Amino acid sequence: MHNDAKSTSHDAIAQIDSDGRLRHLLTLDGLPPNRITALLDRAEAFRSTSAGVSKLLAGRTVVNLFFEPSTRTRTSFDLAAQRLGALVINFDVASSSTSKGETLLDTVHTLEAMHCDAFVVRHKESGTPATISRHLHSHAAVLNAGDGNHAHPTQGLLDALTLRRHRPDFSTLRVVICGDIRHSRVARSDVHALHALGAGEIRLCASAELLPDADEFPRCRIFHNFDEAIAGADVAIMLRLQKERMQAAAIPSESDYFTRYGLSAARLQRARTDCLVMHPGPINRGVEIAADVADGPQSLILEQVTNGVFVRMAVLAELLAADSTTPLRA
Ligand code: NCD
Repeated sequence: MHNDAKSTSHDAIAQIDSDGRLRHLLTLDGLPPNRITALLDRAEAFRSTSAGVSKLLAGRTVVNLFFEPSTRTRTSFDLAAQRLGALVINFDVASSSTSKGETLLDTVHTLEAMHCDAFVVRHKESGTPATISRHLHSHAAVLNAGDGNHAHPTQGLLDALTLRRHRPDFSTLRVVICGDIRHSRVARSDVHALHALGAGEIRLCASAELLPDADEFPRCRIFHNFDEAIAGADVAIMLRLQKERMQAAAIPSESDYFTRYGLSAARLQRARTDCLVMHPGPINRGVEIAADVADGPQSLILEQVTNGVFVRMAVLAELLAADSTTPLRA
């Protein structure tokens, strides 16, 4: 399995079948804008039928295969599948035969033999969901719930949906993404969604060590100074320091980090007065974001969580429902 953030073009092709239907969701990179918009519209439709409960996926089985910790993503995939009438298995990695040396692919083939229809996969290695999708024995769908620093497509979609509800016209938006961008699959999927939907300007802000290689985001403006990056911004997306993906030497002190890159109320005043504040969670209060900003009137953090369930319902419905929407040609 590869461990870099640049192998998306193959995934972009592999996730669409020969009839033009979405077969897996591995990445937003290369997903055409009309497909992204169709998924957001579908999520919005689930949101407006407020209870959102249906039997669309009755008889289907969805397996959550999480090899990294998760609160929001796992729970919301679980709720989304259940609200569509599917059966959900939350595969317990710690007590499974993976601890007896069974390979990941043998585990997947075992679950396929029990007629599971979808695998929601989170793994520390970039490329794991794509690898699983290439080795399936059945017609199961693979949904990437975050792989290494590579992609987190449902987070990108839920961030786009949340933003679209408040700022329907992306063309004039100035979005700043600040924090540990190098290790962030969320930043990558957000950038792909925002570009696809025509965001006016995307600014990436971090210290040099926490930025990816310059050629990875050629269409974004790069900043090292957060006071400059946030000036006049319409949206600030803050990211956690992902220490689990860093070498010990690269971990900055939390108080220094907050001084340089934390979103305080004073710093937020440099943005537009109606600047929206987003964060995928989990938040570290006082490290990348001040508690009063996270809990303040401009924060959409909990709304992002709410929208996550509807986005995951939309993706599961698109991939699994027999009467899935008409294929969209790229
Ligand atoms: C993120 C993730 O796991 O990539 N969280 C999430 O899914 N909402 C971000 C993070 O862990 O910092």
